Amino acid sequence: MMPLPAHWESRPGELAIGNDFQVAFIGYRDARLNDAVQRFTDRLSRQTGIPFFPKGTLASLTIECLGAAPTYPKPGEDEAYQLEVTGNGATLRAKTTTGILRGLETFLQLAGPGERGMRVPAIHIEDQPRFPWRGLMLDVSRHWMPAPVVFRTLDGMTSVKLNVFHWHLSDDQGFRVESKSFPKLQQLGSDGHFYSQQTVKEVVAYAADRGIRVIPEFDIPGHTSSWLAAYPDLASMPGTYSIERTWGIFHPVLDPTREQTYTFLDTLIGEMAALFPDPYFHIGGDEVDDADWKASASIQKFEQAHQIKSSHELQAYFNHRVQAILQKYGKTMVGWDEVIEPGLARDTVIQSWRGAESLSDAARKGYRAILSGGYYLDHLKPASEHYAVDPLAGDAAKLSPSEAARILGGEACMWTEYASPETVDSRLWPRLAAIAERFWSPQDIRDTGSMYARLSFVTRLLAFAGVENRSNFVPMLDRLTGNRGSLYEASALIDLADAVEALGIVGRRDEHKYSSLVPLNRLVDAARPESEPARRLTLSVEAWLAAPTQDTGSLIRQQLLTWAMTPVALHELGSGNYLLTELLPVADNLGHVGDIGIKALDFLDKRQSPPDGWAASQLQALTEYEKPKAEIRLAAVRPVRLLVEALASNPGSVKPVTR
Ligand code: ACM
Repeated sequence: MMPLPAHWESRPGELAIGNDFQVAFIGYRDARLNDAVQRFTDRLSRQTGIPFFPKGTLASLTIECLGAAPTYPKPGEDEAYQLEVTGNGATLRAKTTTGILRGLETFLQLAGPGERGMRVPAIHIEDQPRFPWRGLMLDVSRHWMPAPVVFRTLDGMTSVKLNVFHWHLSDDQGFRVESKSFPKLQQLGSDGHFYSQQTVKEVVAYAADRGIRVIPEFDIPGHTSSWLAAYPDLASMPGTYSIERTWGIFHPVLDPTREQTYTFLDTLIGEMAALFPDPYFHIGGDEVDDADWKASASIQKFEQAHQIKSSHELQAYFNHRVQAILQKYGKTMVGWDEVIEPGLARDTVIQSWRGAESLSDAARKGYRAILSGGYYLDHLKPASEHYAVDPLAGDAAKLSPSEAARILGGEACMWTEYASPETVDSRLWPRLAAIAERFWSPQDIRDTGSMYARLSFVTRLLAFAGVENRSNFVPMLDRLTGNRGSLYEASALIDLADAVEALGIVGRRDEHKYSSLVPLNRLVDAARPESEPARRLTLSVEAWLAAPTQDTGSLIRQQLLTWAMTPVALHELGSGNYLLTELLPVADNLGHVGDIGIKALDFLDKRQSPPDGWAASQLQALTEYEKPKAEIRLAAVRPVRLLVEALASNPGSVKPVTR
């Protein structure tokens, strides 16, 4: 299960799932619950491969719901449920539909093959979330993410009990929603890539049905090049503007000193406030470049006339005006860290992207806050790093109980400079599931080994929810080869892709001149953020070094041989293919890493000492091989380094394996 429930106890026995699987209801029932149960049975059927022909007799699962949940999810609403599975049947109880939704997902995670057939093991679960705000922010501006991406992302979020979809709808590279009041926003600010208001309504309804709130973000006053491409009069400097095609912080910003800006925002926010029912509205507010404010004579004059002494104070004035507009439409402001300025209304929610200190600073100042620092998925850090970040750890652990109560939870962030509709799933999943567990499960659930074991299960299960984190992998590799070569050679490319890790934004931004026009079709785009084979081999090597067995030794050897063989096939494929050219040196390095591993394994296995200086020189070579090339890192180095290090520290320490 992921996230792990707050309390659970395994019981003896199991509930068989057969053709006669069916659900019964006791108590409250409505259309939303019916739809949820229909989706659940369809999914269970798909997941088990069993067609259901309910006979109208005994129910396998009884749902006891006491009452309706709000049609649109309410921040902080009750999401608790109880699930009791016995050999005779299962019962899912909750106060409202929302708790039932969460419990159905747990049931789906438990269903799978047992000794005699498909089954759910007997268990007693009492579960509720730790934090009320468990979100994902998706940037649809840097790279356009069409509606199907959004729908399947909501499906994945449902599976792991996330409940806030923060939709980053506008930025320098695109304004992504249809505005009827200011149609040039989408006409001139989006390359034709925007959601119609009808699509927005469908997304909001789809999310709400699944107990997920949708918070729109319109990032102002910076990050607004796309707005200014459409309405240049809103800019701080006269001129013409265009959509940005590259990444970074740009100087075009709204003019906070002109009434016209607020008239425009009033109309636009009014229109968007009606489209998005959530009581919260995100105004961004991050990374404002004040060069144009400083360069504008009229803005400087305004600052003097209003005793505004800095650009920060000017942004605070802007926020104050925007906040009044939001209030008029019944919305509460959410903003990134930078919006905190003296005078900011106390009901503002601060989204902290700078980390634990700015988070706790916000809470001490009386603001409610959510943590995103440490949850930036686009950095492609290992799941373990995100999993170790806790909204109530570090500086936040020192908060008083009333201050700590202002920490509402967190949001993972997926910025999409380096993600396309084809690759975004593998950047979101499965790591987002580990973050979802951090937000849902009790704080003391933090065993990394257990997390990874369950993550590897969840990454497969998510396919049944429609997430494409795995399904795009092989076709992307086939594109790299031009669908050429034998299946043996194609599988060598899979082995290479599995032995490497893609670099995130920090590793990529200085390597090429990236822009919206650069295709994301290289190995770095297909490769995952974390190599599962490398992680598994590391565990095997650790186990073998501690207590060698022949089975583990053979397993290690087999993986190393696969790596050692990779260059041969890659060179076969590589001639005359520009996409593979950059990979040949990486494949060669993987081959060397495999060879070093095999030699080290041989020395250890036979309790032989390597020649003087061998281990040291191999460690040096491994350090070279680990340096990123083609924006990927050879993860295969890690387990092999362990073998060589064991040899370097104490060559006789590994016991011989009895054959
Ligand atoms: C941000 O990462 N600029 C919110």
